[in-house]
Order: sequence, then structure tokens, then C-alpha cells
Amino acid sequence: MPIGWDPEARQIHLRNGTISYVIRVLENGALGHLHFGPLLSDARSYAHVGLGPFHGFTNRLDDPVALELPIAGVGDFRVPALTIEGPDGSAILDLSYVSHRIVPGKPPLAALPCTYVEAEAEADTVEIVLADAPTGTEVRLAYTVFRDLPIVTRSMVVRNGGGAALDLTCAMSASLDLSDSDWRLIQLSGTWARERHVVERPLVPGRQSVGSVRGASGYQHNPFIALRRASTTEDHGEVYGFSLVYSGNFLAEADVDAQGTTRVRMGIAPEGFRWRLDPGAELELPEAVLAYSDAGLGGLSDAYHVLYRERLARGTWRARPRPVLINNWEGTYFEFDEAKLLEMAAASRDLGVELFVLDDGWFGQRDDDTTSLGDWVVDRRKLPGGIDGLATKVEALGLRFGLWIEPEMVSERSRLFADHPDWAIGVPGRVRTEARQQLVLDMSRPEVVDHLFRALSDVLGRAAVSYVKWDMNRNITEPYSLGLPADRQGEFFHRYILGVYDLYRRLTAAFPEVLFESCASGGGRFDPGMLAFAPQTWTSDDTDAVERLRIQWGTSLVYPLSSMGAHVAAVPNHQTGRLTPLATRAAVAFFGVFGYELDPTRFSAEERQEVIDQIAFYKAHRELFQRGRFVRLRSPFEGDGDGTAWMVVSPDRRQAVVGVYQALNRPVPGPDRIRLRGLDPSAAYQVAQWPSTGDSVERANALVRGGDDLMAVGLLLAAERHAAARWGDFWARLFVLEAV
Ligand code: DGJ
Repeated sequence: MPIGWDPEARQIHLRNGTISYVIRVLENGALGHLHFGPLLSDARSYAHVGLGPFHGFTNRLDDPVALELPIAGVGDFRVPALTIEGPDGSAILDLSYVSHRIVPGKPPLAALPCTYVEAEAEADTVEIVLADAPTGTEVRLAYTVFRDLPIVTRSMVVRNGGGAALDLTCAMSASLDLSDSDWRLIQLSGTWARERHVVERPLVPGRQSVGSVRGASGYQHNPFIALRRASTTEDHGEVYGFSLVYSGNFLAEADVDAQGTTRVRMGIAPEGFRWRLDPGAELELPEAVLAYSDAGLGGLSDAYHVLYRERLARGTWRARPRPVLINNWEGTYFEFDEAKLLEMAAASRDLGVELFVLDDGWFGQRDDDTTSLGDWVVDRRKLPGGIDGLATKVEALGLRFGLWIEPEMVSERSRLFADHPDWAIGVPGRVRTEARQQLVLDMSRPEVVDHLFRALSDVLGRAAVSYVKWDMNRNITEPYSLGLPADRQGEFFHRYILGVYDLYRRLTAAFPEVLFESCASGGGRFDPGMLAFAPQTWTSDDTDAVERLRIQWGTSLVYPLSSMGAHVAAVPNHQTGRLTPLATRAAVAFFGVFGYELDPTRFSAEERQEVIDQIAFYKAHRELFQRGRFVRLRSPFEGDGDGTAWMVVSPDRRQAVVGVYQALNRPVPGPDRIRLRGLDPSAAYQVAQWPSTGDSVERANALVRGGDDLMAVGLLLAAERHAAARWGDFWARLFVLEAV
């Protein structure tokens, strides 16, 4: 029984083969938290499991003091999970257990994206109702435990069952108390072109948090944190993961109190959030995905990868092999016409590319980024045959056709803005801050979403468009909606994201065969909320292979390779000016959804052949790269940061590809070995290097070797001094392993 209810102990125990989550209805009716972590046996009471001495005021808190839904102002002076202002202006709640029900499977959320099951046997859910009598507040908490993953999801609906309006000012999707603070906090932080770098710090007393108030999850911080022990490695030791299925403002916080306990909370950012609940109204909050692994960070990532690839992503493209694409952005920017695009498409087809993507600049009069966003009508100066004409010609070449859009934006110089200036976000009578010379449309207004659905359906419905890149290139300033009354402006940011989800839902439903890729100036909204609609995301505008090692490594902590768009670009790289070998650029981009971002007509004959071989190699291993198990071996965030290694292994462990990368070359290299992981120890593997270099390192490794040997001893990277001197900087090697 994966969820047990013990009426005597008043205990709810969610468990599967690896983890337990234990909740108890305390003597005073509050919902206590007993345990989340290693598996505990069922049919036992865990009422004795408390946090230990607590130095707040405890008459309401009972023993244990850990609560599933802590409230502010009642003697627990740590951060709250729920704050609701009642009609008298107070924010005190006494939430008591009312009922619960255990259901097989996982009921979907109503309006927000969430993980799901395809068969009831995959998970079980308990829904618990709590109520506060004086205000009439009713809270429905839902917890799901997945049968085969060390994961519990949690979501919440808050309803006003009273007779007067309530204001919700803080509603955390997850709140978890841990009995010590001997943890290191991991966050994925950065900025444009260096997203999701792994940043770590030991927990200290007080609050430490990451979040966003930009209107999007943002590249500054991802809606994910983890807590690991100092001794935890990639494959050993304890780690907790917290991930939010949400694309807007968020908070992820650890609060360490004077006694050294840790409270982790995660949800919509309370800053600027205020939601009016009229009598009878309710609000659904985003889903938090909590994971626990005692198999290190790799174990944590395995769980998130499987869940997000198989049961968050959905639709036609969830499991379908993703096409090798070429995107014209870095190849042409805004300067193209139909002839140029067809020349690029024909050259791409000859290389083996499967999908040609036309990026920004095809609509309105958009010759640069100062104009036309919102006018989703083809620019016939550039494309006289329209998008349909171009798409037909691209298809006639034997390629699929894809198109860039940026639905949420409007240029001041556009017909849409002239017709509907009030649709752009801003406060009347005040300056609107421009960024990239564009404004943001008020997606909280249904008429804006309706208009975009009609306009974009028209584009997608008229032409053979197989792929859409949905971009979003600036964050929100002067948050204010003319569609909301003054006392509801605190709802704006969340309503904006609900509007984005609504448009995504309608477009993906109307065009189920279209592959959507989300993008926000690269990875500025790379989050689980987006993945529920678009199974892949443009990982970063930074296409430099060396920078990508760190970006893709950090991203892989949570997100599977099937979600990471990764392209080979021209050199000197447009973001860093760096010159890296073509082979290295491909060896990095293979570990993701592979493509090119350049003008293929500019390749030399030699480069052309190299690219033909790269694409053939990727296609031959596409299933492995897109659906295999990704294993991190050597971190670019450790040591001098020059070395990186990772691998991908097929589910049956009979095939693997290992990527080894060196940024700056070292003179007189030592006997470097890379120990592999995830192989079958009893299998024998033929090791081959791709492409062949014919040198001593290739010869030293091109053997049939046991999986145990490859994991215990590893691949040898040492070379003679003279040989290594020829490698230069930014080299990469790929090793292909086939069980024999
Ligand atoms: C930002 C994206 O990340 C790029 O790939 C490109 O689509 C540009 N926007 C186009 O404006």
C-alpha cells in the first residue's frame, strides 16, 4: 500500500521502494510533518519523530513542532508557508484537519502545468482538507508519491469558504522542516549567456534564498534548489531536491533557526503577490516536486530526468525522436530573403539536417529589433511567397520547416501597439521602461490571449509549420494591468503566467503535431512549467562550446538531455569570440537536442564532410542522446574548471557514449583516467573513439573491456608529451561503447 492511513496514530504514510513521507494529524488538529527521506517500514507509528527542542512558543504547535503548513504570528518565528489576511486585517489562522482521501493515480491541476501519470498504478495521491473556522479558509493539500521514483509532489488549493473577502499574501507550494542544518545549498544561477551555473554554499543561520520578481523564472536563478551533505558526491550520499513547476516569480528559501533546524520553502514569490479571494473563490498554487536521493546528485538527477522527460513533457513529441535542426539566427540575423534562406536550406539538406528554422525578422517590417513585434504578418519584401510559400519550398527540398515567434511582446513601432496601446503593460501616465526596444503585452487579459491565439493560429494554420520557437526577450517592468481593479493589482504577475499557459495550452492543442521549443533570450525561462508545453528549451544564447559545458552541466542537475536545445555555431563564437574546433563544438552539442546555428553555405569542403559525419553520428545515436541516462563524471565547476567529462548510457546498459573535454591544454600531462559509471559490470564493451584520431590515446582505449574495469579503472587519457602538444586548447574526445 503506497499510502497508508493509520487511524489510531492519525498518520498518513506515503512510501514506495525507496522513500517515505510521513504526516500526522496532531492532537490539536494541526497537520504535523514527521519525515521525508529514507524509506521507513509501514504499520508503525512515527509520532515520536519530532524535531527536538523548539524554542518558539508552542501551545499551538504541539509535539512535534514541524508542520506541513506553518503560519506566521503564532509562536513559530520562522518563515511561514501560508499567510491570509482576514476581514479584520489580522493574519492568524488555526488550520485543522477536516478530512482526507487517498486516490490511485494523480488528479491533474485545473489550470497550472503539472506532472502526470498514464496509468493509475504509477502513483498514489492523498488529498487532505484543512480549515480555519473563523475566516472560513479551506486548504486542500495534495501529495503524490510516484511508484518508481524517489519523488513526492505537493500542490495546494486555497478556498474562501467564509462570508467575507480574504487576501492571500503568501502561499508556498512546499514547506519542509529538517532537523539539522548540516547541508550545502545548491542553486543554479547566472545571467544571460551563462545560465544555470552550479553555485554552492553551506547553510548558515538565517534565511538564504533565490528567486525572481521579474515576471519569469529568469536566468538569474532557476526555480530549483538542492541540499546535499558535505560528503555527498555524484553517486553517493544524501541530497534533497526542490523544483517548482512554474514559470513566473518564485521564491526558494532555506531558513536556519537558532537551534540549527532548517525550513525549506518554495512557491510563488510573496514579494508583490496579493490575491483577493472573494467568498466562494479559490486559488490553485503551483506544484512543487520534492526528491530525496541517497545515491548522490546523480541519483537526484536520474529521478528528475525520468519524471520531467516522461511525465511532465507531453504530447506527440514527448517520446518522438527530435529532428536535427538548423536555425538561421546566427547565420543571418535580420538580413535574409527567400533566396538566401532556400540556399541555406538546400545546403543543410545536403548535410543531413531535418528541420530548417526561420528565426526572428520574417514579419512586419522587422529589419532590426526596433519594430514590428505583435504584427504576425509576413514581410513580403523579404518573403514574397509568404510563410506558406517558403515552407512549401523548404518541404520540397526534403526538410521540415520551423518558425520563430515572440507572442508576449509588442514593439511601440507596430500596428498592434497603434491599435491597442493599452495592451502593453505599464502604469498610465508614467514612463514605461523599454528593454530591447520592446514592451510586454498584458497576458493577464483574456482579450490579449484571444487575439494572439487567433493571429498565431492563422500563421500556423496556413503554412506547413512543423516547429515553433517561442521566444520571450525581456522581463516585466511597471507591473500593472488595466484589466484589474486597484485592489487586485497584486494578482498581476500570476495572472500573466496563467495567460501564457492558456495561450500555450490552446496553441499546442490546436497544433498537436507541431514541436514547440521555448526560449527566453536563451535560457531565461528554462523551467518545468515551460517543459509541460514545450518539450525542449533553447538552453542558452551562448553557443560557445566551452561555455556550454558549464551551462549544460548545471542544467542537467534537474533537466533531461531531451529538454536541452544544443547547437553548433560558427567561430569566432558570437558571444565569446573564441575559436574552438568544429569537432569539439559538436561533441558538446551532441549531449542535448542537436542542431546548427550558422550559415551552412559558408562551410569549406572539409568542414562540410565533417558536418555530414557529425549529423550521421548523432542520428545513429539519437535515441541514446535524447533518452539515455546522463551521467556526470568530471565537473567544470571543480578544480581549475578546465576538465569536463560526462556520458550517456542506454537503458539496457549495452551502449554508451562518453564525452571528455579539456578547455586549456596542459603540458606534460599526467596519467589521467576517467572512471565511468552506470555500465553493466559483468558486460564486455568494445571501446571505440569517434572520430578516429589514430593516436596513442585512441589505441590505448580501443579494446574490449569489462564494464567493471571501465568503472573501476577507467579510460586512459594520458599522452606522450609531444602528442599532447599537438592537441591544442579546447579539445574533446568521444568514446563509443558497445556491449559485445
Ligand atoms: C533571443 C533568442 O534566444 C535567439 O536565439 C534569437 O531567437 C533572438 N532572440 C531573436 O531575436
